Amino acid sequence: MAFPEGFIQELKARNDITEVVSGYVSLRRRGRNMVGLCPFHGEKTPSFNVYTEDDHFYCFGCGAGGDVISFIMRIENLDYVDAVKLLAQRAGLELPENTYDDSMSKLRKRIFEANREAARFYYKSLYEPVGREGLDYLHGRMLSDRTIRHFGLGFADDDWSSLTSHLKSLGFSERELTAANLAVPRRSGNGVYDRFTNRVMFPIIDVRGNVIAFGGRIMTDQKPKYLNTSDTPVFKKSENLFSLNNAKNSGSRTLLLCEGYMDVIAVSQAGFSNAVATLGTALTGSQALLMKRYADEVIICYDADEAGQKATARAIPILRSAGLPVRVLNIPNGKDPDEFIRSQGADGPEAFKRIVERSGNDIDYQLQKLRSDYNLEASDGKVAYLEAAAKLISSLSSAIEQDVYASKLCKEFGVDKVAFRSQMQRQIKRRSRERYKKEQQQARAQLSGRGDRLDTDRSKVPRSSSAEEALLAYLLRSPDSAEHIAREISPEQFQNALMRRYYQYFLSRIQDGKDALNNLSADFSAEEAARVYQILNKHSGVALTKRSLEEIIKVIREESVKLKREDVGGMSAEELNAYLLKKRNTKN
Ligand code: UTP
Ligand code: MN
Repeated sequence: MAFPEGFIQELKARNDITEVVSGYVSLRRRGRNMVGLCPFHGEKTPSFNVYTEDDHFYCFGCGAGGDVISFIMRIENLDYVDAVKLLAQRAGLELPENTYDDSMSKLRKRIFEANREAARFYYKSLYEPVGREGLDYLHGRMLSDRTIRHFGLGFADDDWSSLTSHLKSLGFSERELTAANLAVPRRSGNGVYDRFTNRVMFPIIDVRGNVIAFGGRIMTDQKPKYLNTSDTPVFKKSENLFSLNNAKNSGSRTLLLCEGYMDVIAVSQAGFSNAVATLGTALTGSQALLMKRYADEVIICYDADEAGQKATARAIPILRSAGLPVRVLNIPNGKDPDEFIRSQGADGPEAFKRIVERSGNDIDYQLQKLRSDYNLEASDGKVAYLEAAAKLISSLSSAIEQDVYASKLCKEFGVDKVAFRSQMQRQIKRRSRERYKKEQQQARAQLSGRGDRLDTDRSKVPRSSSAEEALLAYLLRSPDSAEHIAREISPEQFQNALMRRYYQYFLSRIQDGKDALNNLSADFSAEEAARVYQILNKHSGVALTKRSLEEIIKVIREESVKLKREDVGGMSAEELNAYLLKKRNTKN
C-alpha cells in the first residue's frame, strides 16, 4: 500500500524543492540550478545541485540524489511515510486515509512514547526510597537537583522487571518494548526482562525533543561502566549526540565536544549549555555534519590522557572536512572536564571558562604536539621539526591560513621564508600526486563496478551494464520513445539485474501514463533511488538522437546473445524459450 499517486504529485508541487532544501542548505544560483555545500558529506566547494525545473537534487561529490521526499528522509532521518507526513504538514495538505502502510511509522511513535514513559519512571524512582543509592551517587558527583531535573536523569533499580511491568500496565506490548531495547527477550523464549538494572540513567533526546535512547552508568567499578541502548528504529549511536537538544538552544554557535555524559553535564552545570558528547564510539562524519547544522565552530574537550589525545587527533580532520573550524581545549593535569571542574572547587566554573577562552586552534595544537616529538636544542631536531611543520601547514586548504602559520614559524626559528615555502610546495605537490593516484584508483574501481554493493552485476557484465544504463537514461529523458524502445528491447535482454528492475518499472509506469519518477522514493530504497539520479546525471549531456539510441540497442542485443553454448545445455525449458526469444528478437 502506498499513497495515491495524485497525492504525491500534489505534495511535490506544493513543496518546492528549492524552498525546502533552503531550510537546511544555503543555496545560490548557478545557471539554471541552485548550488550549495552538500549536507550529506563534508566539502568546502559546492557540488550539491538542486534542479529547480525537474524537482530533484544531486551531489557530484557523494552521489546523493533524489526528489524532495528523499531529501527530507535523509536530512531528517525519517522513513518514507514520516517524510511524506512532514511535507504534508508543511504544505497544509490533508493526508489521505487508510491508503498507506504506516506500520513502521506507528512503531517508531510507540517507541518514542515508551522511551518518554521510561524516562519519567526512572526520574521518579530516583526520588523514591528504591532510588536512594542513585541519588546519593549523583549528589556525590556534585550534581544539583536542578541539573538532575534539567537532564532528566534517573535510576533503574535492581529488580529485573520494574520498568517492564510498569510499561506493560500502560499498555505497551512486549514487542514494542523489545523494539525500543528497553526490554530483552528471555532466553527461554518466555517473556522479557528489563534491559537496564542498577544504573543511574541518562536519557538521550534528539533535536525535536524525542527521547530516543538511554545511557546507564553502574555505580561501582564493575564493567561495563556505561551501557547504552543498542540501535533501534529510532536510534543510531553513530548518528546522534548526547545533549544536542540543549546545545542547539544555547544561543551559541560554538559547540563543546566532550567524551562522555558526565563531562557534558558538569560543563553545563558550570554554565556552558553548548556541550555535546558522542555515545561511546569515536566521532563519525555524520555526527560532524550534524554539528555543522547548529554550529560554526567546535572546541574539542576530550580527556587530557593519552586515549583522549589520540581521539583528538582523529577528530580534527573529521570536523575540518565537515567544514567546521576547530579549537582544542588544554586541560591541565591529565583530567577530563568533569574532574577538572570539580578539582577547582567553588572556582570550577570560572576556571573552566578561562581554559575555554585560552583554547588554541587545531593547528596551534598540532604544532605544539609536534614540538614535543623533536629535540629543538639540536640543529637536526630543529630541521626535522620544521619539515614536519611544513608538511602540516601545507595540508591547510586556505592559502591565507598557510601564510599566517608559515610566517609565524619562520620568524620564531629565524628561517628564510622562501626556503620554508619551497619545502611546503614540495609537500603540496606530493600530496596532489597521491590524491591523483587515489582518484584514478577509485575511478577505475568505479568503472569496473568493483565494490559496488548495490549493483553487483556491473563488474561482471560491464559492457551490457553501461548500455542498459544509457537506455534507461534515454527512456527517462524521452518517455515518448517508450513504445519504440519496448518493442526493440525486452526486459529479459537486460544482463544487469538492477537495471532490469528499473527498466521493467519505468516502462510499465510510462505505459500506464504515469510520471516515471513520481513514486521512486516509495518503490525503491534510498540508495536505489539515488542511483537512478546518478545515472540520469551521468547521461544528462548526451544528445538524444536516433543514432545514439540505435547504438545502445545494438550493444544490448549483442550482449544478450553472448550466452555460451554449454549454458544452453543446462537450461530449463523456460530458460531455453526465453533464450530463443532473445535470439529471434536480435535477428530482425
Ligand atoms: P570514560 O571512561 O572516559 O568515562 O568514557 P567518563 O565519561 O569519564 O565517565 P565517568 O566520569 O567515569 O562517569 C567516556 C564515554 O564513553 C562511553 C560513555 O558514553 C562515556 O561517557 N562509554 C564508556 C561507554 O559507552 N561504555 C563504557 O563502558 C565506557
Ligand atoms: Mn569522567
